[in-house]
Amino acid sequence: MAKRTRIVIIGAGAVGSTTAYTLLLRNRVDELVLIDANHKKAVGDALDMNHGMPFLGGAKLWAGTYEDCREADIIVITAGAAQREGETRVDLLKRNVAIFDSIITEVLKHNSHGILLIASNPVDVMSYFSWTKSQWPVNRVIGSGTLLDSARFRYLIGDKLAIDPRSVHAHIVGEHGDSELPIWSLANVAGSQIQLDDEAKEEIFTNTRDAAYQIISAKGATYYAIALALDRICTAILRDEGAVLNVSTLLKDYHGISDVFLGVPCVVDRTGVREVLPIQLADEEKALLHRSADKLKGLIESIS
Ligand code: LAC
Repeated sequence: MAKRTRIVIIGAGAVGSTTAYTLLLRNRVDELVLIDANHKKAVGDALDMNHGMPFLGGAKLWAGTYEDCREADIIVITAGAAQREGETRVDLLKRNVAIFDSIITEVLKHNSHGILLIASNPVDVMSYFSWTKSQWPVNRVIGSGTLLDSARFRYLIGDKLAIDPRSVHAHIVGEHGDSELPIWSLANVAGSQIQLDDEAKEEIFTNTRDAAYQIISAKGATYYAIALALDRICTAILRDEGAVLNVSTLLKDYHGISDVFLGVPCVVDRTGVREVLPIQLADEEKALLHRSADKLKGLIESIS
C-alpha cells in the first residue's frame, strides 16, 4: 500500500488551525496532525474538525505530539507570537527565535527527511534560523515568503482591471514585510505588460504591502489568505508539481545577493525548492531588492 501522506502543523492558532481546515476541505493529505503548546486547544480544534467528517471524508486528523513528526512529509510551523496592532513583523523576532529554538530541537528528535514550511513572522528570518538550526538541506526549508503578498498584488490588479486574478501574473519579491517590492516590469495579462498610471500603481502596491496592518486593525489577525498560500505550497510539494511560487529561500548570487532568505520565484516540487528562477529586474527593482536583502541581513546578524 502506498505510504500515507502526513502534514504536521505546529501551532494551532488562527493561522495553524485555518491551514488545517483548508487542507481538510481540499482533501490534500491522508493524515493531518495539530501540535500546540496548549494541547487542549489542538484537541478542541481536532474534535471540531472531525465532527465535520461526515460531510467531508478524507484525512485522518488528530491533536498530536512531536513523535507524530516521525512520518511527516511536511512540517508546517505557524507557532509563535502574532503581530498585534501597532507592531511590525520584525517586532516578533526575538520572541519567535526563542520559541523556534525549542520547536526545531523537538522536531529533529523525530524527523530528518521531511520539509520544513515556515509561516511564523518575520518569516524570512525565521526560515533562515530554521535552516541553520536544523542543518537540513536548504531545499527542504521553505518560508511562505511573498506568495501571499503576490496573491494580494494579483487580486488588487485584477480588481482594478476587472480581470480574474488567476489571469494576472505579477510578483512581489523580497522581504515578506515593509521592504518588499513590486516587479511592475514583468506584470502581465496574457503576456501583455500591464498598463496602469503611476497613481494606480502606487495605490495597488501600497495596499498590497500594508494589507496585514489593515486587516489586523480591522479584525485582530490575518489567517484566511495565508492558509490558502500554505495549502498551495503543500499541494505543490505533495503532488510534485514543479509549480512556480514566490516562497522564501536562501539566495546565492541572485542579482548579486547571497546568504539571506528572500521571497523570489522558485520551482516547488516533492524535493521542496528545486530551483530558484532568475527573473529580469529593472535597475530600480534590483536596487530595492538589495535594500530588502540588506535589511534582512541586519536582522540575521541581530540573532546570530
Ligand atoms: C500577513 C501575515 C501572514 O501578511 O504576515 O497576513
